[in-house]
Amino acid sequence: AHPIIFDTDPGVDDAQAIAIALAHPDIDLLGMTTTFGNVNITTATHNALLLAELADRQIPVAQGAAAPLVKPRHPAPTHIHGDNGLGNIALPEVQGRADPRSAAQFIVDTVNARPGEVSLVAVGPLGNLAAALQLDPALIDKVKQVIVMGGSIREGGNVTPVAEANIFNDPHAAARVLTAGWPLVMVGLDVTHRCVLGPDQMARIEAGQGRLGQVLAGSYAFYRDFYQQMLDIDGCCPHDSCALAWLVRPELFTTQRGHLGVATLGLAEGQTLFAPQGRGFIEERWSRTPLADVCLGVDGDAVVEWITDTL
Ligand code: BDR
Ligand code: CA
Repeated sequence: AHPIIFDTDPGVDDAQAIAIALAHPDIDLLGMTTTFGNVNITTATHNALLLAELADRQIPVAQGAAAPLVKPRHPAPTHIHGDNGLGNIALPEVQGRADPRSAAQFIVDTVNARPGEVSLVAVGPLGNLAAALQLDPALIDKVKQVIVMGGSIREGGNVTPVAEANIFNDPHAAARVLTAGWPLVMVGLDVTHRCVLGPDQMARIEAGQGRLGQVLAGSYAFYRDFYQQMLDIDGCCPHDSCALAWLVRPELFTTQRGHLGVATLGLAEGQTLFAPQGRGFIEERWSRTPLADVCLGVDGDAVVEWITDTL
């Protein structure tokens, strides 16, 4: 199984992905690290603990970034994930407590205990990974791979015309993480917008996931309204689960290798830019930036089937 740390801001689609990370036999969830993003940091940590408890699992949860590295934090828009991050449904009490370490320290300790083995799967703003790199710059040679749900190359944004939410929420952290030079794949809106989890599929998931299934289905119902309004689709894009689909089923995606950049200022703030490898002058200007892989194509139906079958 793939040992992973799941860095998350749960979040309706984060919750679906956490359920997959808990359920899939090929994924070994070593811990979760939390960040502000869809919700504030205390709510994110609460939700991560709760989701693991609903699946009767004890997974370490380490709390991380409460705000972006540089820009001021704006409160998350509550019409997408709800005030509580899970569609405003009633939630049971959490029993467990967070790990005493910071998210960044948890990442550093866990990766160093198993050099070359651990994948970081990051599906929120990227402050925790940036902080971990600052604590231990040699992490770039010790992680197995970094899988980031975030960004958009050809698809346009979901917060501004050019920016995707996870990158927009902390563009300075994203710039460090996406250009650090570790083995990295970006799973952005170019592929996640091609995946639509429909209501019938969610009904199957609800039936298969017990108490956790009720939370997944209840929060999905709220999230669905947002997609209806924004993209005019009947269903939700399971953004964060796509990062796990890449981990387990990379053959469902097509990728291109090249250099990534992140705009941190002005109208383009939070935009991800991509210079594909081997395009003459385009690449020359960018060649100081390390190479990364970017997902540009996907078999969306197969990914959604994988999600539904897993759950
Ligand atoms: C990303 O932003 C968040 O709202 C979702 O959880 C996902 O990680 C999609 O842009
Ligand atoms: Ca997320």
